[in-house]
Amino acid sequence: MRTEGDRWDIVSSVGWTALMVAAGRAVERHRPDPLVDDPWAEHFVGRADTPQPLPTHPDQPWPDPERVDGERTVVDEFWTVMSTYQGVRSRFFDRALLDAGVDQVVLLAVGLDARAYRLDWPAGTTVFEIDQEQVLDFKDEVLTTAGAAQRCRRVAVGVDLRDDWVGALRAAGFDADRPSAFLAEGLLPFLPAAAESELLRLVGTLTAPGSTLVVENFAAAFAQLQHDPALPRFGRPFGVEMTGLVDLTEQRPHPAEALRGDGWQVEVTAGRDVAQRWGRPLETMSTGTTLDSEFVVARR
Ligand SMILES: C[S@@+](CC[C@H](N)C(=O)[O-])C[C@H]1O[C@@H](n2cnc3c(N)ncnc32)[C@H](O)[C@@H]1O
Repeated sequence: MRTEGDRWDIVSSVGWTALMVAAGRAVERHRPDPLVDDPWAEHFVGRADTPQPLPTHPDQPWPDPERVDGERTVVDEFWTVMSTYQGVRSRFFDRALLDAGVDQVVLLAVGLDARAYRLDWPAGTTVFEIDQEQVLDFKDEVLTTAGAAQRCRRVAVGVDLRDDWVGALRAAGFDADRPSAFLAEGLLPFLPAAAESELLRLVGTLTAPGSTLVVENFAAAFAQLQHDPALPRFGRPFGVEMTGLVDLTEQRPHPAEALRGDGWQVEVTAGRDVAQRWGRPLETMSTGTTLDSEFVVARR
């Protein structure tokens, strides 16, 4: 269960979800036709002190203690969809950030996203990375040990997005008078509803004309998953109570509507459609659950 002002490291609570999606990117890298090439994802997974290793290759199953005789389980189905989806969303957002054509980029709740180390940024780009301190500390340590080289100027900003992150970002050198690109990937439902609305509003106050905000809207997908038997089983081997990570009882405005109301020009694309177009259809699980998220690109 979440509490007000809760903190975590990379192997607990919401921090662990950053590791899980990194595992998805590692799997993607080992497919014959990867949509993204993230060489650092496997390093993160390998260095994290988890009770069991997370899979990093397409042929590795998710550790499911309820598996009988090597049978395929609902957890395997979920991991197949989830890891496939990671490749699709990573590539979509890679492109959206590079297409933004700006030299200030803010990755909100960056987790183990290694875009600062793997994308071909224009010269002079600064990437600000916001997340809780313990998550950023783990990331820094792994990347330093691995000898990873930044492909832009990277500025880590350790702050909680329910606290004064705007002050911390400005203090780190972000210039709100110049255009920028912000990304909220794998974030919104992990925030309380009021903090989510406030975050979108605050990004509006920080973005000069010519800016882009890219958002993953997965609240509806997570709401459906909350009722799927795969979700609690998925986190259990890692001691993570997946169904307790988000509070979807609170009313949340659709991010696209909130952004339109705040003067942004907004395009919404279904993740499922992108996956289909790129030859990576997202299976519907045998439980009927689908991963119906949306990619929201807002410009002003
Ligand atoms: C699913 S991971 C996504 C990480 C990254 N964006 C990616 O897609 O690889 C969720 C991330 O959100 C971060 N997060 C969630 N709530 C946060 C908060 N209130 N303040 C700072 N970071 C937060 C977690 O620490 C974690 O790194």
